[in-house]
Amino acid sequence: MINKYCNNTFFFAIIIVVIMMEYKITTRNEMETIEIAQNFESEKFPNMIICLNGELGSGKTIFTKGIAQALGINETITSPTFTIIKEYNGELPLYHMDVYRLDGNTDGVGIEEYFTKGGVVIIEWADTIKDILPSERLDIKFKIVDENKRVLVLVPHGKIYEDLCEAVL
Ligand SMILES: Nc1ncnc2c1ncn2[C@@H]1O[C@H](COP(=O)(O)OP(=O)(O)OP(=O)(O)O)[C@@H](O)[C@H]1O
Ligand SMILES: [Mg+2]
Repeated sequence: MINKYCNNTFFFAIIIVVIMMEYKITTRNEMETIEIAQNFESEKFPNMIICLNGELGSGKTIFTKGIAQALGINETITSPTFTIIKEYNGELPLYHMDVYRLDGNTDGVGIEEYFTKGGVVIIEWADTIKDILPSERLDIKFKIVDENKRVLVLVPHGKIYEDLCEAVL
């Protein structure tokens, strides 16, 4: 049986190519990163989920500031490292999470409950809790180029987020 296959002159390879849409944006200062975030008009998208990744100081919280401003939130936005989840009241509620300290252990934290609460969910270090993330979401990876330059790589998952990226970028 094995011989039969090994003697075949032709090998048939099935290559499944998953084409993932990806958008790259370079920002030259923190204001430009804030403006990109504002362009998403998150105030119009209850249950929007934005997952941020990238090294320390790459701009995840600065981006969140832009989202907060679009929601009409005037409070200062800081990384919620010690509280894991911070809630802000705006046109829609903003649920700002920094899951770095969870080290992947989400048991009992109740993160999933926030995905369908009608607010905007933004998660710093989201890759560390990949298993519980909804399949439809916007992933953004931040890369530090130099002191003031950042590359944002946006990967939409799901039609809503694909359309959003097309409209905004
Ligand atoms: N183009 C840029 N976009 C965003 N931030 C920038 C940019 N250029 C410089 N910065 C600076 O980089 C820093 C980004 O800090 P921020 O708190 O957003 O990082 P972070 O990714 O949230 O880090 P952490 O993982 O520690 O929470 C700020 O001091 C900001 O002023
Ligand atoms: Mg941060």
